[in-house]
Amino acid sequence: MTHPIRIAPSILAADFSKLGQEVRDVVDAGADWIHLDVMDGHFVPNITFGPDVIKSLRRYTEATFDCHLMISPADGFLEAFAKAGCDILTVHAEAGPHLHRSLQTVRSLGKKAGVSLNPATPESAIEYVLDTVDLVLVMTVNPGFGGQKFIDATAEKIRRIKAMIGDRPIEIEVDGGISPETAAIPAGAGANVLVAGSAIFKGGSVEAYRSAIQAIRAPAEKARR
Ligand code: DX5
Ligand code: ZN
Repeated sequence: MTHPIRIAPSILAADFSKLGQEVRDVVDAGADWIHLDVMDGHFVPNITFGPDVIKSLRRYTEATFDCHLMISPADGFLEAFAKAGCDILTVHAEAGPHLHRSLQTVRSLGKKAGVSLNPATPESAIEYVLDTVDLVLVMTVNPGFGGQKFIDATAEKIRRIKAMIGDRPIEIEVDGGISPETAAIPAGAGANVLVAGSAIFKGGSVEAYRSAIQAIRAPAEKARR
């Protein structure tokens, strides 16, 4: 199954003092989804924002809110993020002992379920949950911070996951170190959703965001197989 290339700017790299405007601007600039990086200072060594901030952003756009939960345990917060207006809730395979249950909970809340893998986690970790997910998020850096270097070894993992998925309608997303220079690598390996923070939120204007999004989209679309 072929999904379109989607560009999902991560607001982690936006100006936090005017997040609503940043979300509106990046959607005007052509973003397909808004990627929301939630960090708890426990699962990852950084803290960002929670459901109340997401709820307040919801009125700025109707674009898909793609919520990446870097929190452990996640289960007790899934309902709050669903109510805040997230459309996709992605939990990490490493974040708890009952991954299948977490994914079932997301679906029972009426949301799309995503599962994410850290760079060190093999694709076998998600073999038995593929019928319970709508999206697989392959981390292409170690989660916690923007502006890190893309890890090349993740391309092979993306290829293997693409093969494991077969004809299920699951989207493959990549996150970390995505830029005009690296975008073709994951796209060529089978990813269709590209998250980018620092490569998009620079320049501070709709025009700058538009050219940054296009500079990632073009090589990704060319590299698709
Ligand atoms: C990392 C986050 C990413 C991050 C990507 O933990 O999940 O979404 O914002 O940032 P860049 O694109 O700067 O690598
Ligand atoms: Zn992310």
